[in-house]
Amino acid sequence: MTPVWRSLLYVPAHQEKHVGSARVREADAVILDLEDAVPPELKATARAALGAAIKAVGRWGADVLVRVNAEAGLIEEDVRAAVRPGVCALVLPKVESGDDIRRIDRLVQAAETEAGVAHGATRLLVLVETAKGLLALPSILEASARIIAVNLGNEDFARDLGVEPSEETLRLPRQQMVIAAAANGVAPLGLVGQATRFDDLDGYREVAVRSRRLGHVGAACIHPSQIAVLNAVFAPSEAEVSEALAIVDAARMAGVGAFALNGRMIDKPILSRAQALLERRRMIERKIEDRGNN
Ligand code: COA
Ligand code: MG
Repeated sequence: MTPVWRSLLYVPAHQEKHVGSARVREADAVILDLEDAVPPELKATARAALGAAIKAVGRWGADVLVRVNAEAGLIEEDVRAAVRPGVCALVLPKVESGDDIRRIDRLVQAAETEAGVAHGATRLLVLVETAKGLLALPSILEASARIIAVNLGNEDFARDLGVEPSEETLRLPRQQMVIAAAANGVAPLGLVGQATRFDDLDGYREVAVRSRRLGHVGAACIHPSQIAVLNAVFAPSEAEVSEALAIVDAARMAGVGAFALNGRMIDKPILSRAQALLERRRMIERKIEDRGNN
């Protein structure tokens, strides 16, 4: 499964006001959070509210994900509460090894049996938030067929390195993540810069544009005002679509490996990139259409 997740809005599971807000409806995906947006004393409350929250945020047709806690003592209950019909994936924070993934995979499998969910239906979005996790990324991504996406937790990762989460410090790790994701056929998500300010949408857009250029295909956000920016930036632009259509048309006419189009050489990888862009546009259109039918 290749997810179309241009925007993934975090919603703290215990915040009824946010869970009920109609402003979540444009997001491609909603991540109900049980982890760092929920204070320790409210973990159980948030978990108990999950069933109703899944229904509330799911009514707009977005994919619903749940971010579970990483700690032993919380994750078992979280996974049991989160694996159920209506939840397409779990978000796993602070993953550091392939063994972490295999352990969680077993929990998810048991929870699927208990909840009557088909084995393998629950997918995983992996969050790497430490230096150790980044270095282990190839073996992490190989550890389960459930994994369909990966992101770097900018704030936690920078804290682990003892640096500020800036474009300068995040660029190399994020490129490593994009490469590991491509090698394993999973979607690289996130922004190559700080993204906690929701009062500066122009700055946010610029970071998103640069993140897309590095290979990211979508990003998580924390405020509904950021959704439209991500949906626009992580979709092919009209200009890109026109160019890709011209390349595909010209290739059909030329019928040879390499040919010239407006003073530019076009060959197989360029054609293939144009086809991939058009396929991505079709997937986004299908997603929007499916949502309209909900
Ligand atoms: N999800 C859903 N709705 C949200 C939302 C969110 N993350 N953040 C804000 N909203 C809604 C509010 O409920 C309100 O809706 P309404 O118009 O229906 O009343 C509207 O958007 C405006 O909210 P605003 O007053 O601007 O925000 P706030 O001050 O109430 O909340 C934050 C600001 C940062 C606390 C809040 O956005 C938030 O909790 N974000 C998620 C944090 C998180 O999950 N972090 C962990 C992952 S990094
Ligand atoms: Mg984190």
